[in-house]
Amino acid sequence: MASSDCASPPYIGKKATIAPQLSAALAARGWTPTQLVEPFIGMGGFSRTLGIPVIGNDADPAISAFHNLRQFRSELLKMGCDDFFAKYVDADGRVEPHTFAVHEAALQQFREKFINTPVSPAHLNDPASQASLLTGAICLLTKLQWSFRSAFWNHRSIDKTKKHSWSGGITKTMGDLGYNFVWNLSWEDFLKSEIVQRALRDSGTVVYMDPVYFGTNGYYYYSIKVKPFDHDALQATARALSAANIKWMMSYNDCAPAWKLYGDQPWCTVRRVCYSRGPLVTSTRKVESELLIMAVFQ
Ligand SMILES: C[S@@+](CC[C@H](N)C(=O)[O-])C[C@H]1O[C@@H](n2cnc3c(N)ncnc32)[C@H](O)[C@@H]1O
Repeated sequence: MASSDCASPPYIGKKATIAPQLSAALAARGWTPTQLVEPFIGMGGFSRTLGIPVIGNDADPAISAFHNLRQFRSELLKMGCDDFFAKYVDADGRVEPHTFAVHEAALQQFREKFINTPVSPAHLNDPASQASLLTGAICLLTKLQWSFRSAFWNHRSIDKTKKHSWSGGITKTMGDLGYNFVWNLSWEDFLKSEIVQRALRDSGTVVYMDPVYFGTNGYYYYSIKVKPFDHDALQATARALSAANIKWMMSYNDCAPAWKLYGDQPWCTVRRVCYSRGPLVTSTRKVESELLIMAVFQ
């Protein structure tokens, strides 16, 4: 029987790749955060490397369900993962397309149900809500794990016959988020919330924003119809944070609209950070860039 290791679920995303550069940028500014506020936490690629408490949020309810179960109900998540592995992962570590499609549909249903329903810590103690959150988290992991594996399996340097588990060699382990609840609000509501407002009064707080990229026009990990992401509103908020002397840092895709919003502004700095990723074969490994934007106080 295949088994999973919930203590080391996969980290999907590229933020871990530039995490050292983000940390270096914090240090260069003399910012030594004691806590991070993160409105678009995703899988927490950067924040999980810092080892400080994170007040996190992501509008995707499956993402918040995953983080919260992992932090506060890890035994349930482990049970759910083991159950999934026992039922659906074959001896070669593969999930059948049909199974994947069924989980994908369940994920979609979960998201539609919870998208505008703020989840609270109390839900983690209520058995019915727990079960529902568990479905969302497991289906999300199934989807991520599936994409992650196909990405690797399509590449010749990966031995397709070798069995991988979620704790296997192709995955990276996730650190914890300081045992703070991860909310599932819109970024606007999250930043206005009492818990964030209180955190912002503490000079040790840094806000890290890794919003939806220009051009993707929606939620990162899923495709339900949502209103287009409001990049202008986010820029106005960043500007207001600078005006209030609140430390913030942002990563964005390196593209003309982002330069237009953040380049040449007296209240922030923008620079490119380069990283390389992709197949581990040097001739095809691509160098990519992102923008690193940071507050300037006047
Ligand atoms: C670029 S990803 C963040 C990736 C993350 N830094 C990581 O390491 O995985 C952007 C995230 O914003 C979330 N999101 C999209 N629209 C949002 C909104 N209106 N409010 C809050 N979160 C949102 C998406 O679900 C997605 O997880």
